[in-house]
Amino acid sequence: MDSAEWCLSMPKIELHAHLNGSIRDSTVLELTKALGERGVINFSDVEHVILKYNRSLTEVFKLFDLIHILTTDHNTVTRITREVVEDFAAENVVYLELRTTPKRNNSIGMSKRSYVEAVVKGLKSVTSVDVDFIPPSEDSKSLFNPLPPSVTHDKCNGHVRKKIFVRLLLSIDRRETTEAAMETVKLALEMRQFGVVGIDLSGNPITGEWTTYLPALKFAREQGLYVTLHCGEVPNSKEIHNMLDFHPQRIGHACFFEDEHWRKLKSSKIPVEICLTSNVRTMTVRSIDVHHFVDLYNAKHPLVLCTDDSGVFSTCLSKEYKIAADSFGLGRREMFELSRKAVEYIFADNKVKDDLRKIFNSMAKNMEV
Ligand code: IMP
Ligand code: ZN
Repeated sequence: MDSAEWCLSMPKIELHAHLNGSIRDSTVLELTKALGERGVINFSDVEHVILKYNRSLTEVFKLFDLIHILTTDHNTVTRITREVVEDFAAENVVYLELRTTPKRNNSIGMSKRSYVEAVVKGLKSVTSVDVDFIPPSEDSKSLFNPLPPSVTHDKCNGHVRKKIFVRLLLSIDRRETTEAAMETVKLALEMRQFGVVGIDLSGNPITGEWTTYLPALKFAREQGLYVTLHCGEVPNSKEIHNMLDFHPQRIGHACFFEDEHWRKLKSSKIPVEICLTSNVRTMTVRSIDVHHFVDLYNAKHPLVLCTDDSGVFSTCLSKEYKIAADSFGLGRREMFELSRKAVEYIFADNKVKDDLRKIFNSMAKNMEV
């Protein structure tokens, strides 16, 4: 088995994946053409935005604006959720924390709540793999029926079926007001019964002020939701300090950290979601060989490899592990252990953690690591 195949077959944990950034290329093109035919957009005007390979951070956010035009209706949100879960499961991701920004679109009767319900419907509509997304302790009698027992079994008709745990994070976009951020947190609390476990702060990092979201983030934490923050995507020393002082359960990226930030981060032990391809493609790190992964890894700081936007950056989690192996000289056992340690940083409950530990233990034997 070559190293790419090995990275593919290894069980993996994905903790930083944006729903609309993980959309398949083929789906983006199909939706763009369909809207072009209906005269909603002009395909030739947007073709270059979609097909461009190396995008700056600013261009990435232009692409997101276009993707949101394409995807923000209930059926499409359901479809892309299903496809994204299927794609991660196909590459042996055994636990996926999928994040998305609830969106309101009055013209089509979409509220933030109905957006998230469309996501949940997408989780429920996956048939190619068993999806565990409803926490067992929750009363899930309203809105959707729980999965029938046969769907949650590992064996179906004598065949072992793949199973993926999925939990949701609701994102606050940095363009939003305090009130809108608070609405998202309240929605997350209401949707806990459908596997919402936390809140993410994301969006264009040059937009907005930390103090705008702080009341909503504090409220989220008080109510027992987990919080992860996009942190240090641009040089903003004060904000990085403020974010670390808030002590979120995880942070994403940590690209523009200075010595004092590293010191604070390392003493805090806050796990870092590392997105290698995303950082290189958006040029938030100069090149892969100077990536801060190496320093954090050598310091044994908690970290997890993630994709960020597998569709937008044409990557997948197996590729990210292969890049880490090739660029930083990790052997198979080290990659496996890196993946296994991520179990400790997930936002789901202890029962899920236990199940995942068992999966990794049994795969460790199979894969002889
Ligand atoms: P969505 O929340 O499912 O619509 O996923 C796309 C959104 O995720 C974008 O509009 C951004 O708000 C956020 N996002 C995706 N990638 C990044 C990133 O690299 N930095 C900050 N925000 C991001
Ligand atoms: Zn991100």
